[in-house]
Amino acid sequence: MKRIVTRIAATAAVVLMGTGAGLAQDTVKVGLVGEMSGPFAQFGEQFLGGLKAYQAINGTEAGGKTVEVIIKDVGGPNPDVAKRLAQELIVRDKVDVLTGFGFTPNAAAVAPIATEAKVPMVIMNAAAEGLTQASDYMVRVSFSLPSLVPPMAEWLVEQGHKKAYLIVGDYRPGHDVEKAFLEAFPAAGGEVVGNVRTPLMTVDFAPYMQKVKDTQPDAIFAFVNAGDVMASFLKAYREKGLDEDEIVMAGTGDITFEPSMPAVGDAAEGIVTSYNYSMMHDSELNKRFVEEFHKAAGADVDPSIMGVGGYDAMALIYAALEKTGGDTDGTALVEAMKGMEWESPRGPISIDPETRDIVQNIYLRKVEQVGDKFGNVEFETIEPSQQ
Ligand code: PHB
Repeated sequence: MKRIVTRIAATAAVVLMGTGAGLAQDTVKVGLVGEMSGPFAQFGEQFLGGLKAYQAINGTEAGGKTVEVIIKDVGGPNPDVAKRLAQELIVRDKVDVLTGFGFTPNAAAVAPIATEAKVPMVIMNAAAEGLTQASDYMVRVSFSLPSLVPPMAEWLVEQGHKKAYLIVGDYRPGHDVEKAFLEAFPAAGGEVVGNVRTPLMTVDFAPYMQKVKDTQPDAIFAFVNAGDVMASFLKAYREKGLDEDEIVMAGTGDITFEPSMPAVGDAAEGIVTSYNYSMMHDSELNKRFVEEFHKAAGADVDPSIMGVGGYDAMALIYAALEKTGGDTDGTALVEAMKGMEWESPRGPISIDPETRDIVQNIYLRKVEQVGDKFGNVEFETIEPSQQ
């Protein structure tokens, strides 16, 4: 019988999953460092929903061992806290694998600790360019933000939207997106007519939208963080009437984050984005994933790419354990992860054996109403060989 015990303290929550207590050597410990509370608590909710969906479908054993997950709350973009929690997980809890990491700065801060302890670190979301170079023990199942930019830059120009205003969150992933767009948009024949970096935590976008209104571009291209930030961003776009000015809203899929769509309502309709997962992706596995995710996270919480990151981190850890026959040596596990291929709810994916980064499709999507929900409807697929 499956047993789930949940203990929640102020800064840490522990979830044990397994068929019983088990002997220490029969258990594999996975330590998850996630944004479980505060303004970005949706990130942690996504990770857990995806992880539980994976275990609901695949059980709690891999390589002959019971997989136990220990969860620590980093509370937001807090690199020093992330470091302390990772250290605690390794030294005190003796975890075999680290996972989670919504924010790039948290993942980057923990990288040297993973290297030193030779503990694999499976990234569920953090999306800065080349992040896996920070440690030979880092493997990423999320995505790389700048890789999403060229297909959308080209699509905008093809549609005749040749003057664009660029808006990015002011930290490393935003700077990566900015650099990619400043290269890709002119290369496609467009012109960047304005460019602004917004504070990471801001929810007041009115002044930025006013600037855009004064400039009257054909389109906005944006990356701001998923969650409350993105919801405020879209509301400001409508409130300033930029849609009425026929200024197209485009960006990375972070601006049409599924769990926040109910809060945004029809303000998101028509937005075009490039991303690696849509809840509306048409596959049998995705249907099953969405069903299990809703059971785990609640019927009113829709899965995003972060939920899929939670699912695929577990898929990779399980597959590596199967390959090592349950050997939890960190170097053996990372070696086993290199080159791994599997089907994700987003489509086929693999881990590049050289970079330890993910290889996957990019989808162009448009927000449309489907049934009683607004969602990201895929209209073009860019396969890895076309990227
Ligand atoms: C990141 O810090 O890498 C990050 C955070 C939130 C997102 C995307 C990327 O929505």
